[in-house]
Amino acid sequence: MKINGKYYRTIWLSNDGRSIEIIDQTKLPFKFEILRLSTIEEVANAIKNMNVRGAPLIGVTAAYGMAIAMHTDYSDRNIDKSYKLLLNTRPTAINLKWALDRCVANLKVIPKDQRVNKAYALAEIIANEDVEICQVIGSYGLKEIERILEKKQDKSIINILTHCNAGWLATVDWGTALSPIYMAHEAGINVHVWVDETRPRNQGGLTAFELGAHGVPHTLIADNIGGHLMQHGLVDLCIVGTDRTTARGDVCNKIGTYLKALAAKDNNVPFYVALPSPSIDFTVHNGIKEIPIEERSGEEQSHVYGIDKNNELSWVNTVPKGTECGNYAFDVTPAELITGGLITEYGIYEASERGLNQLTAGKKLK
Ligand code: MRU
Repeated sequence: MKINGKYYRTIWLSNDGRSIEIIDQTKLPFKFEILRLSTIEEVANAIKNMNVRGAPLIGVTAAYGMAIAMHTDYSDRNIDKSYKLLLNTRPTAINLKWALDRCVANLKVIPKDQRVNKAYALAEIIANEDVEICQVIGSYGLKEIERILEKKQDKSIINILTHCNAGWLATVDWGTALSPIYMAHEAGINVHVWVDETRPRNQGGLTAFELGAHGVPHTLIADNIGGHLMQHGLVDLCIVGTDRTTARGDVCNKIGTYLKALAAKDNNVPFYVALPSPSIDFTVHNGIKEIPIEERSGEEQSHVYGIDKNNELSWVNTVPKGTECGNYAFDVTPAELITGGLITEYGIYEASERGLNQLTAGKKLK
């Protein structure tokens, strides 16, 4: 996507052919800075500290991390060690494991001296695939937006609510939930996006940054506003992303997604999840019971993050000293609440075991 007239992906190989560069998302939306990662430890920390974030991008970053690790030591031992280090960075997004498993499966079967080249090539393939997948998701989602607009009485505008950031910053390019929105905007549809702030890490600020940079009309709202908007007919559909979707269609996504889906169901607002197939974990059925939910530091809850008068980024405390704070980063929306469906690179499927069986029928997923 273009920022200040220049095309960027969220991650790319440095000129030295060994390190990678990323857009540092801990600085956004205040500062646009590029961070270079040259060691596997730096890559692991960047995932853990959310310099990169969003399930698909986490997976791609881990694949590059494995390549960087191979550059130092391409032994089986180092493959296993690097796998563990990267896998333990964040527990919920399944794309991380998916990408690492794919790396290991491809690297262990080839002669050791071919592993460096293979690992970089594979990371590049995974990154490029992500871009293609997100584009296709966008075109399927666009058709759905057009269909809903067609049924509306007031065809002058379509209001879409999204939660967290599932745009190009969360992927390599385009995004999942925002890809259909970008395509609708480019197709000349008057789209307006309600952007959930998404406390405590304020991923809504990232979504607002993206949409603003691309001229898509949007309004940032506090996380509790969506239900009210839906009751007043101000939301035509919701689209969110996912960090892990189960074999029966339960959707794990950023904390607060579940409450939006409940409100959407109560107000007959179609609720969609946009996802690349690597976000599906076919080994898991009941998302509530089986998906590990990341718990992050309570300081992310007790403090707000922003930029001060001196243009410095800092965390500001908002609660009494010593207050116990809970910070569950994700929740699970049961399949029954995904009333619109799952928008994938293979088409749109019902969020159910049957829908996911249809998705896999006759295909060899990577
Ligand atoms: O904690 P984050 O910012 O990594 O969480 C990101 C999300 O929950 C996204 O909505 C999800 O990864 C889908 S991204 C295409």
